[in-house]
Amino acid sequence: MSFRPPKGTYDVVAGASQPISDPQIWRSLLGEWEVWAERFGYPLTMTPVFESTELFERGVGGSSEVVTKQMYTFEDKGGRSITLRPEGTAGVVRAFLNAGGQGAWKGAYSGPMFRYERPQKGRYRQFWQVGVEYLDAEAPDADSEVIELGYRYLTAVGVPGLELRLNSLGDSECRPAYLVQLSTYLNDRREKLCEDSVDLIDVNPLRVLDCKVCEPYLTDAPEMTDNLCDACRDHFQSVKTSLEALNIPYVQDPRLVRGLDYYTRTAFEFIGTELDAAQNAVGGGGRYDGLAESIGGRRTPGVGLALGVDRIVIALGSAEAASIDVYIVSESGAGDALLAASVLRQDGLRVDFDTEGRSVKAQFRAATRSGAGTTLVMGGLDKPVDVRTGGSRLTMPLEEVSDWMNATL
Ligand code: HAM
Repeated sequence: MSFRPPKGTYDVVAGASQPISDPQIWRSLLGEWEVWAERFGYPLTMTPVFESTELFERGVGGSSEVVTKQMYTFEDKGGRSITLRPEGTAGVVRAFLNAGGQGAWKGAYSGPMFRYERPQKGRYRQFWQVGVEYLDAEAPDADSEVIELGYRYLTAVGVPGLELRLNSLGDSECRPAYLVQLSTYLNDRREKLCEDSVDLIDVNPLRVLDCKVCEPYLTDAPEMTDNLCDACRDHFQSVKTSLEALNIPYVQDPRLVRGLDYYTRTAFEFIGTELDAAQNAVGGGGRYDGLAESIGGRRTPGVGLALGVDRIVIALGSAEAASIDVYIVSESGAGDALLAASVLRQDGLRVDFDTEGRSVKAQFRAATRSGAGTTLVMGGLDKPVDVRTGGSRLTMPLEEVSDWMNATL
């Protein structure tokens, strides 16, 4: 067959050899996300995978690369300009405003996002984000709570070498003066900077701080956190104090600028320090007090985060989680295995067996391949079964298997 998944995409299917395609890891990461989001009071939110292009142009911002270079934009049959969502925040804020939302509101989402990027390991054209948005929430504790959710989730699923980086990007009060100062500094070093950075000076000077190539020439660049107004400084200090009280370690990073234009004040990223440096952000977020107004809504301060599940899967490596608990090998035919599996499944166990009447030897091979910790060998429905786990073998009635497994394994 000559079809492959489109460039920058991949399949999650049982039996694929790549760890990133392992359905079991995906299922457990997405399931765990729902648990944590609900624990923090975020109900499920679903918005369309495509939106009007203008929502992203105005919401995410015309000077961000995501909007200028990476959007999947097309005209639909009715002549509307449509874009596959490159991120979740703009759509969720739109949905909140359309619903006439008033007062503090929380929503959690999970789904595919689309960016036309140069694909490589950890960077895809379709990727999966889980995220939350906390709207009509102005106080710094909202920021801390969102950050805590990300930190607790990433710690619970076991991302190795997790590091939280934190910065403040100021607001409309203090950022404009800082940007003038930064542009002057950058203009003075124009000849040393790379071409992309020079182009950015007039459009989005903050992004220059993010350039790995120019880093050596920017060591004494002015920093936003030294130029915050009183309100932004208090807000930042308060977020840091709560993170300390919550025992969440962070690194203050004056170079952290984020790739989307809507951020004000708090900006943060979660880094998997064991991943390749170019794609090591497993999540990020921050505050966006001006986003709702930029898309024509009333003032709605908000804060949120999104985690990249593809990258979390990579960070966890091939954990080889088994997808079933018991594989039944039947010496008395598939019909008996079908009934025995039914009993165990109703007891809550994850069970598989061979429906095709293969030889006992072939069934044992399938049991090994399945990754099940326990193989159950049966010689008829009225006979006790042989339960093999690790090196041990025990004989017991079928009805006792699930109790025995729950008590022992
Ligand atoms: P973002 O930093 O653009 O933020 O994306 C969040 C995470 O999505 C990244 O840290 C990364 O793990 C993952 N990600 C982004 N692009 C790709 C890609 N091409 N391939 C694989 N993974 C990727 C946002 O999207 C904001 N909406 C987060 C937010 C929510 N801010 C406030 N609320």
